This record gives sequence, C-alpha cells and structure tokens, in this order.
Amino acid sequence: MFKQYKEAIEKSNIISKTDINGVITFINDEFCKISGYTKKELLGQKHSIVRHPDIPSSKFKLLWDTIKAKKIYKDTVKNLAKNGSTFYVNTTVIPILDEYGNIEEFIAIRYDVTKEIFYKHALEKKEKELEELNQNLEKKVEEKTKELKELNETLEFRVAQEIAKNEEKQHVMFWQSRLASLGEMLANIAHQWRQPLTELNLTIFTLKKVALKNDIQEIERIYLESKNIMQNMSQTIEDFTNFFKPTKHKHHFKIGKSIDEAISILNKLILSEKVSIKVDCTNVEILGIPNELSQVIINLIKNSIDSFIQNNIVTRDINIEVKSDKNYAYLKIKDNAGGIKIKDKYKIFEPYFTTKHASKGTGLGLFISQMICEKGFNGFINVKSQNLMTSFIIKIPLIKSNNYEK
Ligand SMILES: Nc1ncnc2c1ncn2[C@@H]1O[C@H](COP(=O)(O)OP(=O)(O)OP(=O)(O)O)[C@@H](O)[C@H]1O
Ligand SMILES: [Mg+2]
Repeated sequence: MFKQYKEAIEKSNIISKTDINGVITFINDEFCKISGYTKKELLGQKHSIVRHPDIPSSKFKLLWDTIKAKKIYKDTVKNLAKNGSTFYVNTTVIPILDEYGNIEEFIAIRYDVTKEIFYKHALEKKEKELEELNQNLEKKVEEKTKELKELNETLEFRVAQEIAKNEEKQHVMFWQSRLASLGEMLANIAHQWRQPLTELNLTIFTLKKVALKNDIQEIERIYLESKNIMQNMSQTIEDFTNFFKPTKHKHHFKIGKSIDEAISILNKLILSEKVSIKVDCTNVEILGIPNELSQVIINLIKNSIDSFIQNNIVTRDINIEVKSDKNYAYLKIKDNAGGIKIKDKYKIFEPYFTTKHASKGTGLGLFISQMICEKGFNGFINVKSQNLMTSFIIKIPLIKSNNYEK
C-alpha cells in the first residue's frame, strides 16, 4: 500500500532527498528530466547546483531557518537547468524526524509550474503594456481636448474678427454708395440754380432801369421777387445739405416725405430722361431715419432710369405706391423698363453684382438698399419681375408712435 503511494507520488512529482547538510541523497527520474542532469551528476551534490542566480540568499536563509525549526517550507522557486534554461517549481520541503524527534533528512516534493509562470509573466507584461497604452491614450485624449479647446477659442476670436471686418466693410460700402449719389446731386443743384440765377440777373438789370425812374413801388416789387428767387435757391441747398447731414436719430415720419425728397433730388435726371413718375401715397408713418429711406428710393429710381436708357424704352413710367395694413407699410416702386433676367434675379442684392459698365454701376445700390431696409427699418425688400416690368416692394413694420417722440 505504502509502496503504491510512493510510486504514485514519485511518478507525478519531482522528488529529492537530502541529508541534514543539504547534500542530495536521492532523486527521481522527473528531477533528472527537468534539470537536465543525470542521477550521477546530482547525487552527492548540494541543491545549489540548480540554484538560479536571480534568487537572493535571504530566500535560502528563510528556507533553512524554517526546515531546521522542523517546519514545512513551501514556495515557488526559480531554478536553473543544466542547459542554462529557467524552470519554476512549486516546492514543499518536509523535514523527516527520527524516533527521538531529531531531523534525519529532508524530502522535497516539487511540481513543474514553468508554463504557468511564463504565462503569468506574459500576462503581467501585457497588462502593464495595456496600462501604459491606457495612460498614453488618456494623455493623448487630454492633449487633443486641449488642442481642440484652444482651436475653439481662436476660432471664436477669428469669427468675431471676421464679423467686425464685415461690419466695417458694409460701413465703407454704405458711404461709397452715398458718395456716388453726391455727384448726381451736385449736378442737380447746378441745374436747379441755373434758371433762378438767370432770372435774378434779369431782375437786377430791370432794377437798375427802374431805379433811374425812381419808381419806388416797382423797386419794392422787384426787391420782393429777387428775395423770393434767392429763398428758393437757398431752399435747394438746404434740401441737399439735409440729405447729407449725419442725423442718426430714429423718429416717426411720413413715407411720402422720403419719396418727395428722392424725387426732388433726382429732378433733373427725371426731366431730362423724360420719365413720368406717378405717386399714389397714403398717409403712413414709420420709424427710422427719413434720409435713409430717401436713399433707397433714389437707388431704385436710378436703377429704373438706367434700364430705360439701356433698353431704349420710349414710354417711361414709374409708379410709386404706398399702402398699409394693420402691421406693415408697403412701398412699391414699379417700372416698365424691360425686367430683370431670371438668372440675375437672385444675385441683384449681392454686393458688387452689376450688369452695367464699370463706369455706370458699382453693384452696391441694391445691397445698400437691402441693408437699410433690414437694419434701419427692421423690414424687407423684395423684387418681382415679369412682362418686362419690375417691382421692388419694401415691407416695413409699423411701430406705434408715442407723443413724446415727436
Ligand atoms: N429696375 C430694374 N430693372 C432692371 N434691372 C435692374 C433693376 N434694378 C436693378 N437691376 C439689375 O440689378 C443689378 C444690380 O443693381 P444695383 O443697384 O445693386 O447695382 P448697379 O445699379 O448695377 O450699380 P450701382 O447701383 O452701385 O451704381 C443692376 O446692374 C441691374 O442689372
Ligand atoms: Mg443701382
């Protein structure tokens, strides 16, 4: 029975026996197989023959202290085979006592765990790699987040900058367009003064003749007439300077006022180009700056006149109509100047879009007009073009005036 046990243990385990000094007295075949030494080479040697240089001597001290104290020692030990390879064994060293309780010899039972240890090490290595990878990833994510955040911040800054630039540009365009109409208006002043100047010249000549006759009554009449002529001249100047005054206070005013102003400024052009303008205006008040609406109307009338000329239209009609409902005022300017091509219709409000020769148009008129309608009046401007006719419709919200504002 005992023999069978012994055989079973010896077949499945690595067994060795040493005397009390650690000198090997027995080893089984399994020991030889794993260590690569023959029995001959091992018997009579100390166990240190398979000692691995990695193992600190403190471990051996612990082993000897334990077994000399007649206790069982258990550990997983790293060993060195004859061919220099490493093997791991789970080791149990049992001190065998004689009948008096003294240590007679030591039996060591081991089993091979090399594969498990290698797997364990490989696993640990992988785990470590994974952990490092993880840490790297975290670091990378952190870096990328920071980069993105910075990008975002600079983007916000850049967007703000672009907006500011854009506003600046619109401002410049606004004045560019106003300056363009300035030339037009100066020509108009000159024209409107020519006639009264001739009249004045004539009146003063008459005055000279009458003065010689001492006709006090006639002198008085001529004086009043001259004063009247000069008042008219001065009014013309007044109108134009008013138009260019940078009055920036919004107030309630009648749309008709802006229409009259626009027509009076374009008077010379309208007459010389033989354009008939009909105005059908209800009494509607809106909130904003009258000069700005005049500028829109001037732009629209000028566009119509340009088209009349370009398309050689003989009967030139412009109809201006003002209506309102509960919430909006509608200003419609319609011409029969030939219409707008469908392909251009969607571009006409873009800055610098023009179908005219560079000397005739900058393509800013409608862009500025739209800007004024939207920003200055909270409104909209739309275009319809069919049957060789074009209508621009401006829709402006009505805001009730209160008495203090006027
Ligand atoms: N009443 C209209 N009839 C036909 N085409 C028009 C009319 N109004 C505008 N357009 C077209 O729209 C284009 C853009 O008009 P916009 O007033 O913006 O610029 P422009 O008149 O060409 O130049 P600018 O007004 O700066 O001198 C014109 O070139 C023209 O082709
Ligand atoms: Mg124009």
